[in-house]
Amino acid sequence: MTLTNSPSTPTRTAGPFVDEDREQHRFRVHRSTMTSPEIFALERERIFARCWLYVGHESEVREAGDYVRRPVGDRQVFMVRGKKSGRINVFHNTCTHRGAMVCRKDAGNAKVFQCFYHAWSFDSDGTLVGVPDREAYGDGLDFSALGLRPVARVENYRGFVFACFDPDAVGLVDYLAGAKEYLDLVVDATGDAEIITGTNQYAIDANWKLLAENSVDGYHAVSTHDTYFKYLVALGTDLSGGVNGTAKALGNGHAVLEYAAPWGRPVAKWEPLFGSDARAEISRLRADLVERHGEARAARMADTNRNLLIYPNLVVNDIMAITVRTFMPVAPGRMEVTAWEMAPRDELPELRQRRLDSFLTFLGPGGFATPDDIEALESCQQGFASGGVEWNDLSRGMAREPLANDEERMRAFWRRWNEQMVGSPA
Ligand code: FES
Ligand SMILES: [Fe+2]
Repeated sequence: MTLTNSPSTPTRTAGPFVDEDREQHRFRVHRSTMTSPEIFALERERIFARCWLYVGHESEVREAGDYVRRPVGDRQVFMVRGKKSGRINVFHNTCTHRGAMVCRKDAGNAKVFQCFYHAWSFDSDGTLVGVPDREAYGDGLDFSALGLRPVARVENYRGFVFACFDPDAVGLVDYLAGAKEYLDLVVDATGDAEIITGTNQYAIDANWKLLAENSVDGYHAVSTHDTYFKYLVALGTDLSGGVNGTAKALGNGHAVLEYAAPWGRPVAKWEPLFGSDARAEISRLRADLVERHGEARAARMADTNRNLLIYPNLVVNDIMAITVRTFMPVAPGRMEVTAWEMAPRDELPELRQRRLDSFLTFLGPGGFATPDDIEALESCQQGFASGGVEWNDLSRGMAREPLANDEERMRAFWRRWNEQMVGSPA
């Protein structure tokens, strides 16, 4: 691959972009991977057109005609529960007549989607059901072939709906590899899950891969999120035991950070942040988990946090609340982030309120964590533009069996990225 860079970024015209030397314990990533328009264009083709990408959660389209519209990769699609079929359809959001987007709102319920341009209408299973002045077309045109075009592949893993634009991709379950076990923990602990209405949407002036790295980066937590930890201590949370955990690469670029929770969790570990009146309900939830899943699995669900990265751009953080977050690259130095909150559907209102508070306190766009992370990522991107340094170093932990705060998961992400981009391992 031959590439050029803008003058402010390190000059590099050919790979390697990921430089790994296991003997020297060296792992470096070339900074042009974060700044080059050519690499950015190639990522769309080799990564976003080939991977399974998260579309939404089945609870968002419970009833026939329920729909949500969103970008997946860099394409506009919408997910809708079909009335005739009962299934979840994901369609390219484009009219088969002359191209206009037929789904024009972010969410809602519709019997038909009528294109606003010339008023062709499609039902929730994509069939073309209305064409004004149909007789003007005579008998030649096959209207039955002009239904909405479904995305090549759509699969649902335990409520998480994914789409893939590559008809030849492996199935979703194979793609998820070791990440399945962690999604299972989240889903089993939550029971009948729903995405709470409302989304957090924000943009970050940084390359999308910086957020993938950040999502499973334990190393930055204490320094970047110092304010939050001080806040917890002020509330009476005992952090003296530190954060104990493990980190794992899960195959296909996915990774997880799993660690004992220093903070409370609505499923099902009480801490002062929840208030004393929530104590009894949280004990009941915990007893229920033990009954359903046994002591060991229940303890893992309740006492450990999971920061899960599903390659390339889905994050499920099961921490003091559960967030599902995707991020879409829109330029080499900019991404758009959408985050949702997932919770048990039958949760008591008081506990739901505490979960929402807990979510916003740390994870929300104005919380203790997200602005800190955004600042860090944007600062990196600005640092790249300053030039002078060509490589990022990601070698922490290579000289030992990697620990939770080492950079092994990020290396796993980059190895997979490199494999997809240049067709060979680093
Ligand atoms: S473009 Fe949709 S009806 Fe013409
Ligand atoms: Fe962070």
